[in-house]
Amino acid sequence: MGRIIVGKTTDILPGKMQKVAADGKEILIANVDGKFYAVNDTCTHAGASLSEGSLDGCTITCGWHGAKFDCQTGKLSAFPAKIKDLQSYKVVVESDNIFLEV
Ligand code: FES
Repeated sequence: MGRIIVGKTTDILPGKMQKVAADGKEILIANVDGKFYAVNDTCTHAGASLSEGSLDGCTITCGWHGAKFDCQTGKLSAFPAKIKDLQSYKVVVESDNIFLEV
């Protein structure tokens, strides 16, 4: 397991999400009240970029068809059909750097 720096805490304001490229994947970083979480950016329904959706507390809503995922765990929280959870990643913040453990 290794650590990859993916940005600065000042780059992602509270309540915002940002897509980053790390470990050959597109990963969404969410800032929820100063805590950072990371999940795969690609919606497991039809492939939308979830960072282009919306974030309300810890809930990411896909902008295409409205699937909801918990940014802390990647788990699907609401959708009419059964679709896969998102992979989630451990985030470590040191000084103002955001690292993913992959
Ligand atoms: S692509 Fe995300 S809900 Fe359909």
